[in-house]
Amino acid sequence: MNVPTVTLNSGREIPQLGFGVFLVPADEAEKAVTEALEVGYRHIDTAAIYKNEEGVGAAIAKSGIPRDELFITTKLWNDRQAGDEPHAAIRESLDKLGLDHVDLYLTHWPTPEKDTYVNAWQKLIEIRDAGLSTSIGVSNHLPEHLDRLVKETGVVPAIDQIELHPAHQQADVTAWAEANGTKIESWGPLGQGKYPLFENPAVAGAADAHGKSPAQVVIRWHLQRGFVVFPKSVRRERMAQNFDVFDFELSADEVRAIDAIDPGDGSGRVGAHPLELN
Ligand SMILES: NC(=O)c1ccc[n+]([C@@H]2O[C@H](COP(=O)([O-])OP(=O)(O)OC[C@H]3O[C@@H](n4cnc5c(N)ncnc54)[C@H](OP(=O)(O)O)[C@@H]3O)[C@@H](O)[C@H]2O)c1
Repeated sequence: MNVPTVTLNSGREIPQLGFGVFLVPADEAEKAVTEALEVGYRHIDTAAIYKNEEGVGAAIAKSGIPRDELFITTKLWNDRQAGDEPHAAIRESLDKLGLDHVDLYLTHWPTPEKDTYVNAWQKLIEIRDAGLSTSIGVSNHLPEHLDRLVKETGVVPAIDQIELHPAHQQADVTAWAEANGTKIESWGPLGQGKYPLFENPAVAGAADAHGKSPAQVVIRWHLQRGFVVFPKSVRRERMAQNFDVFDFELSADEVRAIDAIDPGDGSGRVGAHPLELN
């Protein structure tokens, strides 16, 4: 299956559908990523804080898949934003992954009270210029953080990876991204199983109409909205189900009905608030 790609401001293409490994235990990561690669995923989203980069790297090495057919993302954890720490952190991540570069390196959270996110972004620019990450971006950054990064460095993030699913669409962040050429990645795309998305009539109705599962409908909604998405599962049948989303299309009305799930007051959020995680 040829997964569609999105073009980043670096000129590089990112597969729009990938596989996320948050909460995949270290000793299960190699198996999960091996299965995901067998299913057909070529884009893996990990992070230093997930503590499973070694397992991801082992699966990549064993797969025999040429490096240039893979898109690998990892992230700088919050306690390493200051000084030259990001340089040490990327080298540690690359060692664990067994790679000489990643395709995308992200600062994980702005942690605004620490006020080190601009420094972290300056170091990511150096990391990109040194060839250790082909593209660079951020995660969980709000427009006020993004504006400051651009004002102080002149470099626009290729990606902002934010909590995004039908119940929490962060229209302010997606509007900033649209205006500035930043692409959005949806984390928690299925609401992490914490929000009753699958029972929602707009999702369940579209699933019935297309003979697909509610999860497939939600993934399809992300794709049709133009977001990059990487649902996580440790179950092979779900990995396959989540990848099997290219043989149907939601109508404009179905997309609009799913858009309307967002309560609009932030109450659909299932993860941390970027201003409160410090
Ligand atoms: N940047 C950040 O701050 C941040 C934060 C969170 C996540 N992320 C990234 O985003 C990725 C995806 O988000 P996420 O893992 O938090 O949440 P998610 O993908 O929305 O949801 C994962 C949950 O849904 C279940 N699931 C998966 N496929 C399913 C299906 N077809 N039907 C029913 N249930 C299904 C999984 O259970 P099973 O595993 O048991 O199947 C798991 O409990 C992460 O893995 C990570 O790479 C980034």
